[in-house]
Amino acid sequence: MEVTVIQHALINEKLTVLRDVETSNERFREALNDLSFFLIYEALREIEMVGKDIHTPLAKTKGFFLEDYPVLVPVVRAGLGMLDAALALLPRSQVGFLGARRNETTFEPEEYLNTIPEDLNGSHVIVLDPMLATGGSLLHTLEIVRSSGAGSISVICVIASPEGIETISSSSYSGDLFLAAIDEKLNETAFILPGLGDAGDRQFGAM
Ligand code: PRP
Repeated sequence: MEVTVIQHALINEKLTVLRDVETSNERFREALNDLSFFLIYEALREIEMVGKDIHTPLAKTKGFFLEDYPVLVPVVRAGLGMLDAALALLPRSQVGFLGARRNETTFEPEEYLNTIPEDLNGSHVIVLDPMLATGGSLLHTLEIVRSSGAGSISVICVIASPEGIETISSSSYSGDLFLAAIDEKLNETAFILPGLGDAGDRQFGAM
């Protein structure tokens, strides 16, 4: 996986809102939506477009359009907060939901929902999950999308630990991983430090 940290002043500002313990659930969802918009926009910079002749009111010129929309895979719950931004940018994309909850004793992901089609037929897949901690959840997601016949794979996260980056980089999966920041380390309970807490709880409450 090729890892890119997207540098932008406005991304840093939104990330600060997410990190701040004083940020309400409502404000957290807003900032995550804004930040996701910026990250996905940057991640799609090189997306393949098809050329087409069009006419302006004055002259003929070349236009560009997206022929094949990527399939979006938000990792429920936390990745749901990135989905609206992704659909705003890619309104014709289809969505496969993957629900995975990390077991907080073993740190292994436990899957409870999977609506990803059996055959993705070579589609470009964009995985959405704000947190990459141990990397277990992302490895699980990558295995599912790869074995379902994904074409190229892009992963959009907000923050990652160096340990999680190492796990993904040294895996057999190829693709692109885009992030707003790589933090310092994992703590003894596999939370990212300084991090932003639990992105699911901070959007939806600790239920
Ligand atoms: C968080 C996060 C990732 C996962 C990262 O979800 O959104 O999916 O943990 O941890 P890992 O890299 O160690 O696997 P969580 O399991 O807390 O579920 P939630 O989204 O429902 O809060």
